[in-house]
This record gives sequence, structure tokens and C-alpha cells, in this order.
Amino acid sequence: MLRPILKYGDAPLHQKAQPVAAITPDVVRLIDDMIETMYAAPGIGLAAPQVGVPLRIFVVDLSVGREADGLLTFVNPEFVEREGLQLEEEGCLSVPGFNATVVRPLRAIVKGLDRNGEPVQTEGNGLLARAFQHEMDHLDGTIFVDRLRGIKRDLIVKKIRKLTKSGKW
Ligand code: NI
Repeated sequence: MLRPILKYGDAPLHQKAQPVAAITPDVVRLIDDMIETMYAAPGIGLAAPQVGVPLRIFVVDLSVGREADGLLTFVNPEFVEREGLQLEEEGCLSVPGFNATVVRPLRAIVKGLDRNGEPVQTEGNGLLARAFQHEMDHLDGTIFVDRLRGIKRDLIVKKIRKLTKSGKW
């Protein structure tokens, strides 16, 4: 089932998500819905807070469903390692129409549980490391816009406020 994607300014996006206590049928359904919603958007990553659920779950698929082994699901993810820095432009399904250059780790290892509750650990380089950090940020209520400083951030926030006021956000 497709779930509506919340946008910057919606409260659940800006709050810290809670750990998943048990992978219940409801949690599995949520994960399936997140995958469907991510592919439909289309996007390369989606975190549970983006569909209004304050749980520590995210899905990533750099191939957007084109490769069978492209899909990664993490429940209660944690960083094992992060190193290096990269500066690339990125966006977010919750901030449609906006992009900005954000500093991210060049390489990151994330561990957590998969949708069956089995431990998983994946190393990401480049875009995957960037996606890991972007989605982990969502679980802490941080949007890429919050990572920007000064005039760049003010400009985006101002534009979003204007769109919200005119009912276009
Ligand atoms: Ni995002």
C-alpha cells in the first residue's frame, strides 16, 4: 500500500524515531509499504518517519528496483564505521524541488536487522554511504536542509514557508 510522504515542516519528520521492539506483522507491512512508496516516488531511500511512523527503519535501493539485490532494509540501524568526506548535491522526497550540496562520509558501514529480524551489515561507498547517512539522519529528525548553514539554508526555508502559506507545499 502506498503511504503519503510527509514534507518538511510536518512534525514527525523533525522528531527522533524510537527503536523497533519486535518485528511484528504490522512492522513487516510497514516495511513493504515503505518499499512500494519509495519505488513509486521514485526514490533511492525512505525512512519510516517520512511516512509518519516514528520507528527506526529505513530502506535503500540505489537501483530503484532494477536490480534484484539492490534493496536494503534496516531495522534499528547503527553505524559501525564512517570515514572520509564527500561533497555532492542531494535531495529528499520530503523536500521536493530542492537540492543542496551536503557533506557526507565517503564510506560507511551500517548494521541492523532485516525484515525477518536477521542481523545484517552492509558497507557503503560513495552514493550508498551518502544514502546511509541521509536515512540515518531521518531517524534522528534531521533533514538535509538542517545540515546546511547560513544563506543556503535560509533561502530554502524561506521558499518552503512561502509555498506552505500559499497552500502549494
Ligand atoms: Ni530524505
